[in-house]
Formats: sequence, C-alpha cells, structure tokens
Amino acid sequence: MKVDGHAYRTIWLKPEDPRIVQVIDQLKLPHAFEVKNLVCLEDARRAISDMTVRGAGLIGACAAYGMYLAALEASDTGFDAFLQQAGAILKATRPTASNLAWAVDRMLGTLSNGAAPAIRRILAKETANAIADEDIEHCRNIAAHGQGLIAAIAQRKPGQVVNILTHCNAGWLAFVDIGSATAPIYAAHDAGIAVHVWVDETRPRNQGASLTAWELGQHGVPHTLIADNAGGHLMQHGLVDVVITGADRVTRNGDVANKIGTYLKALAARDNQIPFYVALPSSTFDFSLRDGIAQIPIEERDPDEVRYISGQTTHGLVESVRICPTSTPARNWGFDVTPARLVTQLICERGLCNANEAAILSLFPEHC
Ligand code: MRU
Repeated sequence: MKVDGHAYRTIWLKPEDPRIVQVIDQLKLPHAFEVKNLVCLEDARRAISDMTVRGAGLIGACAAYGMYLAALEASDTGFDAFLQQAGAILKATRPTASNLAWAVDRMLGTLSNGAAPAIRRILAKETANAIADEDIEHCRNIAAHGQGLIAAIAQRKPGQVVNILTHCNAGWLAFVDIGSATAPIYAAHDAGIAVHVWVDETRPRNQGASLTAWELGQHGVPHTLIADNAGGHLMQHGLVDVVITGADRVTRNGDVANKIGTYLKALAARDNQIPFYVALPSSTFDFSLRDGIAQIPIEERDPDEVRYISGQTTHGLVESVRICPTSTPARNWGFDVTPARLVTQLICERGLCNANEAAILSLFPEHC
C-alpha cells in the first residue's frame, strides 16, 4: 500500500544490506511514520512483544524474519540448538495468534535439513521472503473474494453508500500488505463502489483509532471513528450493512479469536440481522482445536494499557495519561472468542465458506 505516494510493505529486508530487517514502527503511528531496523533475534523478539509490529499476519512474518536473523547469529557448531531456542523465544512473545507459531514451525521444518549452516542461512532468507510473499498473495485473494460481498450489497441499494463496520486493525498494517478485513474494502473502493467504514476505536490500545483510521485515510477510503460502544446503536438504526473483522486464531469448527470486543459486535449484528464476516488467511487456522472458548489461549496484557491512554497534545507531544484513580486495579484481556454460530461466513484465500468444520475442510481438505 502507499504512504504519501510511496509503496511500502510492513516488513522487508534492507535493500543495501539484507542482513537487516526493516519494519514500520507501529508504536509511532499515526503521529509519525518511522522505519525501524531489526538486526538480531532479540530485536525481533522485542518488536513483537512491545507491538512495534502487531497483527496476526505481520507477527508471523516478523517471526519468520526473526528466525532468519537467528540463523545469521548462530555459530556453525551450535546452529541447530540455537535455532530451536530462537523458535521457543519467538513463540513465547504472544500467545493468541496462530500465525506466529505457524511461521516459526515452517522455518524450523525447512531449516532442519542437515545442510551446512551457510546453505541454511540462505534458505532461511528465502523461506522468510516466501512467507512474506505468500501472506500478500493470500490477502490479495481475500480481497477478490470479499469484494463480491460488498458489490452484492451495493447492488441491493443503488445510489447509496455501503456502510461497513470493522474492529481493531486487520488492515495492511496487520499483514505484510493489503490486509484481511480491509482487503475487500480497498478492492471495492478501487472498483468504484461507494463504501464508508465505521472504525471502532478498539480500546485499550486503540488500534482502530491509530492504525485503521490512518491506513484508510492514506488510501482515501471514507471512514468515521466511533467509540467501541457505538456499534450496536448504529446497527439498530440501519447504519451498518455488514461487519467485517479479521481473526487471530480460528478453530477447525469456525470459532474465531479476535481483538477483545469482537464478540459483542457479533452479538449485536445477529440481533439486528446484519451479516458478520471474518476474513483470514489459512495460516490463522488452528486445525488442532475444536472449541475456541475452551481451548484458545487468550493473552492477558499489562493492566496499565487500560489505566493509561496515550495521544498527541495540541503542542505536538505524544504523551500518556492516567484515566482512573492511582490505585484502581485493572485487567486487560487482549482477545475474545466469537462462537462459530454468530459468524455468517469466513473469507479465506481459497474462497468463502460457512463457519463449520465440514465447510472449512471442504476448502482445506489437506487438514481432514
Ligand atoms: O493485538 P494485536 O493488535 O496484534 O491484535 C491483532 C489485531 O489487530 C486484531 O485482533 C485483528 O482484528 C486481527 S489481526 C489480522
């Protein structure tokens, strides 16, 4: 996607020195656009942990490049042990999104071929690049499949705008490029369909306000930021045609873990007969699980993310302020699980499917 007219991915190898991984620093958005260098395993670990990079697809890609950095760092003699240890370190950074462990396991699988370390360092680079390229290809296909849904709604209300509600950031910043939930929106907008996006602010970290609003703005997609609690009211008043969210982990029966608050949007959508779609690449499925509520690990983060809020002052400084009494206890769950019965359909790179095991496996029969 383009930022001020220049095409960017969210992660890439520095052209002048491919031993350096570069990422867009998402902690600085929307107030500043900065690129950060990752030069070692520890840099990659920290970038995922502190959410310099975030979003299911991107943390997968960053973990893959983290394994590449680990391969560069590893000695020839301790190569295999170091990579195993690196994989464990990266997997421990964030527990909910499937993509992270999926990417680490793919890197470890490819690199455990017993070849000389020098060969395997080259393979690590090629595999990390392939994971990033595939992420883009899958998002491009999600865009194509999802665009038809928006076009169909537009046909039913000629001359009117299609109103889409989304939660958190499942846009191109959450992947290597293009995104999942916003991919069909960009495609529809680019095809000349009049769309408007209701952007949930997405407390506590406000990825909707700081990231989704920013990237939709960069692409010229009409949008309006709303408080997280406003969605139900908008749905009751006919102001939402469709909800599209991303996902961090989806079980083989179609239960969806996504940013905290998604479940409430799905409940409100069901009560108002509004379709609720979830867009995801296959790397977000966890085919080993059948019960999302019982089995998907939900990340619990620092309570200070709830107790403090950060933003830019009128003087241009980015500051963090406390919004509750000093001694107020807080809890901070990062994700919730929307049961499959509330999901209208899944939008995947191979097409649309209902959120149940038979339909999912008919798209991905290799996991039967
Ligand atoms: O905590 P984050 O920002 O890494 O959460 C991930 C998300 O942005 C959302 O849950 C998103 O909807 C799915 S990621 C494609």
